[in-house]
Parts: sequence; C-alpha cells; structure tokens
Amino acid sequence: TSAPVTVTVTGAAGQIAYALLFRLAAGGVYGKDVPIRLRLLEVTAATGAAEGVAMELEDCAFPALASIDITDDPAVGFDGASAAILVGARPRGAGMERADLLTANGAIFRGQGRAINNHAADDVRVLVVGNPANTNAYIAQRHAPDVPAERFTALMRLDHNRALSQLATRLGAPVGELDRVVVWGNHSATQFPDVSYLTRGGVPVTEGLDQQWLTDEFIPRVAKRGSEIIEVRGSSSAASAAGASIVHMRDWVRGTPDNSWTTVALPSKGEYGTVPGVVTGLPCRSDGGEWEVVEGLEIDEFQRPRIDASVAELVDERDQVHALGLVD
Ligand code: NAI
Repeated sequence: TSAPVTVTVTGAAGQIAYALLFRLAAGGVYGKDVPIRLRLLEVTAATGAAEGVAMELEDCAFPALASIDITDDPAVGFDGASAAILVGARPRGAGMERADLLTANGAIFRGQGRAINNHAADDVRVLVVGNPANTNAYIAQRHAPDVPAERFTALMRLDHNRALSQLATRLGAPVGELDRVVVWGNHSATQFPDVSYLTRGGVPVTEGLDQQWLTDEFIPRVAKRGSEIIEVRGSSSAASAAGASIVHMRDWVRGTPDNSWTTVALPSKGEYGTVPGVVTGLPCRSDGGEWEVVEGLEIDEFQRPRIDASVAELVDERDQVHALGLVD
C-alpha cells in the first residue's frame, strides 16, 4: 500500500462534515488503497461532538482510515496536511451585518491561512467550503505566501453539479452524458452558470436550450438553488455540498477524465477578462497535479456582462476585506 496522507477537515462536527468524512474515509478522494490520517479541527466547544463523529468513523471499520485526531488548535490541525478542506465558518447570526460576517470569517481564515503556511505539507491542496467561500479562500491564500496561490481553491463544484442536473432534466439526457458546463464568478446569487460549450456524448448541444429559458429559468434556478434547498428541506445543503467537495478533491488528486473539464474557483491570473487575484469560478482540468485553466474559449456578448458582474462582486468583497484590515 501507499504512504498515508494527512487530510484536515475543519467544521468536523457540522452537518456537511457529517456527510463528507465518511466518504473521505471510504476512499472517495484518494482511493481505497491510500491510508488516510484524519485531522478534525473544531472550535473548542464542539470538540466533544467531533469526538462522537470520530467514534462513528471508527465503527465503520474503514480499511483506509489509519488514524483520527481532534484538535481546536490550527497549528496542530494542519500539521503535515496534504489536503485541507475548510468547511467550518461562522454562520450569519440574527442582526449580523455583512461586515460583521466578513470580519468574523476573516479572522478564522486569516489564522487558518497562516497555520497552513507554517505547518502543512509542501504539497498541500486547500478547498474552502465555508461561506463566503471565494473570499474566505482569498483571505487564507493571502496569508500563506509560501504556498503556491493556485493551491487555494473554493467550492463551486456544487453549483456546477446543480447546473448539470437541471440541464439533464431539461434535455431528457442522462447527466453522465453531459459535459463542459462552467460556472463563472462567485458562489453567490451573481454566479453565471454557462452552457455555451455544453456537449452531450461529446457532441455540442445546439437545440433545446433557448435563450429565454436560460435567462428566466436556468440561471436563476441554479444561482438560487441553495435558498430553495433551505426552504424545502428546512436546512442548508449538506450531502450535496459534501459530495461536490469529494469530487472536487478527487478530480484534483486523480485527474479529470480525458476531454472533460469542471468548475473550480481559484485565484485568477486574469483569464477570460477576470480580475487577477480574486478567487473566481473558471473552467479547469487536472492531470492529477495542479489545476489548469482551460484556454481558448470564445466569450460572446451574452456571457461577457454576466461574467463581469459576478467578478465585480468578488472585487467588492476583496476591497471590503482590505478595508477591514483582514488582508494587507
Ligand atoms: P454547520 O453549522 O453545521 O457546521 C459548521 C461547523 O464549523 C460547526 O461545527 C462549527 O463549530 C465549526 N466551526 C466554526 N468556526 C470554526 C473554526 N474557526 N474552526 C473550525 N471549525 C469551526 O454548517 P454546515 O452546514 O456544515 O456548513 C458549513 C459551511 O459551508 C457554511 O459556511 C455554509 O454556508 C457553507 N456551504 C458552502 C457551500 C458551497 O457550495 N460552497 C454549500 C453549502 C454550505
């Protein structure tokens, strides 16, 4: 068997982690033959509940689960980590303003970024799930100058999967036949789920998706799916967010299928007219090493303002965290 890998999950006592940890321990990212050392990072008050989750993980007797450690200290939590899935975040409380939320989360992701910088393994890959995910990833990345910037990603695979599923229903196609969707911008209501390059069974889809359906139904449906789930389920997306996190990490570590791509939010280098530095959704491939942004796509006049609007929101969030002193 291979050498064990250390994987850190924050927010380990929360509802996303309750779906995520079991799939991770079952081999969903690295495969069944790679032993995993799990590090669960929680706030002090929730370490007891994390202990309960660890007991259940033990009771699954997953062959690949080598060890579980629970801590409230980021320096310990990220020590030697090759993967860090940052799920824990401060939820928006009653009466909390957006600036309060950014400040609370800014402090968390600043500290975790520093701890990753100082303690994680050289090959660390970071996925931020906790909201506002893109800007939290930006904050963490900016406090980890020794880690290549593109190792800091935020989860937009859930938005990507939501788009695929809506398209499968609309086209009456098995979801597995669809490919080349991308969700540009921010994991927020301004996101732009884009079907311009959609293929079915490798062939471009040219029929069945009229502009009115895209504008009036598809785009808002995908962008507001999180709120719809809360309304119907009475609680926010958990298993679907966990599933998207697993396949994000799996594709990163083991590569995207040939000729396929996915959506990853990562620090822009200015691709497709996005603003360098902000963590934006882009079409990406992996060969099992680093994410690579897909090149050479045409952007038309339907796409341009939608990409720009969501990136403008990310720039605004970036400016706020700088104004709040969370990033120099
Ligand atoms: P939850 O409230 O059930 O769990 C969050 C956990 O994080 C709690 O156990 C809490 O104690 C912990 N936590 C808070 N601060 C922490 C810190 N500094 N260090 C370590 N742990 C900390 O929330 P849930 O449902 O698991 O969601 C987690 C986050 O994921 C939320 O911010 C949510 O908005 C976000 N989310 C993101 C999605 C995406 O697509 N990017 C989709 C769905 C949710």
